[in-house]
Amino acid sequence: MRRPIIAGNWKMHKTIAEAVQLAEALKGQPGELRAEIVLCPPFTALAAVAAIIKDSPIALGAQNMHWEEQGAFTGEISPNMLKDAGCAYVILGHSERRQYFGETDELVNRKAKAALAHDLTPIVCVGETLVQREAGETEAIVATQTRGALAGLTPEAVASLVIAYEPVWAIGTGKTASDDDAQQVIAFIRATVAAEFGNAAAAAVRIQYGGSVKAANAASLLSRPDIDGALVGGASLKAADFQGIIDGA
Ligand code: G3H
Repeated sequence: MRRPIIAGNWKMHKTIAEAVQLAEALKGQPGELRAEIVLCPPFTALAAVAAIIKDSPIALGAQNMHWEEQGAFTGEISPNMLKDAGCAYVILGHSERRQYFGETDELVNRKAKAALAHDLTPIVCVGETLVQREAGETEAIVATQTRGALAGLTPEAVASLVIAYEPVWAIGTGKTASDDDAQQVIAFIRATVAAEFGNAAAAAVRIQYGGSVKAANAASLLSRPDIDGALVGGASLKAADFQGIIDGA
């Protein structure tokens, strides 16, 4: 069965000292967990957080990555650098990367292939904007993004990764998709994976929901059959809030 996965995307928040403090607070608490927990601090805090959580069940993830191993790519971070810093996961194609930094499905696909080649598990983000939702384009958008990001992967590779469905209008707005909406779109993404990669890959791939997840709505979202966890932004920045989500998983 699919193990739920709760990831905290700290985005561009926290100094090294603040990141260490948050990781320490969370490390003390998890115990025996049903869900897998991933912390995704900014690049500057990865190694420090890795040192804190190394003997705990909590895993480390990065928020972005370049697809090349090294070279003249000023400002970029490679897959092997993330492995070296202790990462097991990497968030790819977050809507903020697509919106502000021009990331396309083709780029996300290159990054996903590079991540898998370096034994990093991609958390591939897909999701529609409010305009697209209101135009009835949600399924077309998430299908295109899912197919584009996963193009050329083997069914086994697809089975091993994580997809995060994040409706852009629900990110940081306090507006969460209803449980029914989130379940429906995530079931559709799973059906898209089945059509492209077969039923075994679709049954195994974990699909998170993201967008204003908090302790008060997490348990109910996660109780839906196709929702395998959460990608959490704002509510992952305080230990008590994130712990509340973990406890409900
Ligand atoms: O990666 C996380 C998402 O963008 C959700 O952010 O929980 O602040 O809405 P949020």
